[in-house]
Amino acid sequence: MKVLVTGGAGYIGSVVVEQLLKHGHAAVVFDNLSKGHAAAIAPEAVFVQGDLCDRELLTRVLAEQQIEAVIHMAASSLVGESVKQPHLYFENNLVAGVTLLGAMLETGVKKLVFSSTAAVYGAPETMPITEDAPLAPTNPYGESKLAFERLLRWYDEAYSLRYVSLRYFNAAGASERCGEDHAPETHLIPNVLRVAAGKDEYVNVFGENYPTPDGTCIRDYIHVIDLADAHVLALHVLDKRSEIYNLGYGSGYSVAEVVEMARQVTGNWISTEAAPRRAGDPPVLIASPDKIMRDLGWNPRHSELDQIIASAWRWHQAHPNGYEK
Ligand SMILES: NC(=O)c1ccc[n+]([C@@H]2O[C@H](COP(=O)([O-])OP(=O)(O)OC[C@H]3O[C@@H](n4cnc5c(N)ncnc54)[C@H](O)[C@@H]3O)[C@@H](O)[C@H]2O)c1
Repeated sequence: MKVLVTGGAGYIGSVVVEQLLKHGHAAVVFDNLSKGHAAAIAPEAVFVQGDLCDRELLTRVLAEQQIEAVIHMAASSLVGESVKQPHLYFENNLVAGVTLLGAMLETGVKKLVFSSTAAVYGAPETMPITEDAPLAPTNPYGESKLAFERLLRWYDEAYSLRYVSLRYFNAAGASERCGEDHAPETHLIPNVLRVAAGKDEYVNVFGENYPTPDGTCIRDYIHVIDLADAHVLALHVLDKRSEIYNLGYGSGYSVAEVVEMARQVTGNWISTEAAPRRAGDPPVLIASPDKIMRDLGWNPRHSELDQIIASAWRWHQAHPNGYEK
């Protein structure tokens, strides 16, 4: 299949492109490089630098490249920033998404895989989280993703535009070529590894008195290659129906456990510093992956935390300045 990947120069998008190519699909990356890196794009992919707001360019690319399906990953995704600047989030994650849908309708492209997030659930009480858990985002980022997910249902009903919405939990790890290079970096594992590499003195632990066994937050970390594989599988559903799936492993690790594992994997001491809780951070977020395993036969191969951290560590050691030479 020939697939347009919006955000394909980003952390997860670049690995999704790799996996698409590996499975014999063709990929066209559409990215404005606001956060992504040209060097992250697989050389075999076609790259179009452009913004999702540019409907004319999107329409032209969809038509000229004879795109059959879209994987829509481009977004703004910093929770704290979304609280301070909600407009930016509704504009980039909702309005720009609708622009993309307009271009898809105009060119008859009716298959979409969408990068959604566990943030649509807010702070659920029942673990693991199934797809029918209450939807109650606690920040504009999660709200913008949920709003887009919700409108997809009406595009399906009215225009037969089929979609698979993948609600990712915490993406982590690296492939051989592609890793995490965000500025600012808000994710735990790359920040822990910055300390291990001697780039930062310590890593902040936001809240040490949560109702968890060691008092720190628990998250479901999913290897970016397993995450990417799910997108390739999702493409096959789009002939038949629309679906929503959670993407995580069904088990979680606390911040303290991640730090300890990173000490073991890297062999370096990693200092931590207690910091206040971040607003809206739920104590525990663990996915139930039962539905995607059952329906799509998704079979994760990299679920061990030490493997995840080791892959990220290898990438960061090979790229001490990220994608910059
Ligand atoms: N990283 C995670 O753990 C996680 C968890 C849940 C959901 N997600 C979602 O997965 C997707 C990818 O996340 P990521 O961590 O790879 O983010 P990222 O910031 O590394 O990648 C996003 C890419 O989209 C591009 N982009 C943003 N706005 C654009 C626009 N208007 N036009 C064109 N390109 C644009 C950026 O340049 C970047 O390359 C996002 O939609 C995010 O919300 C990520």
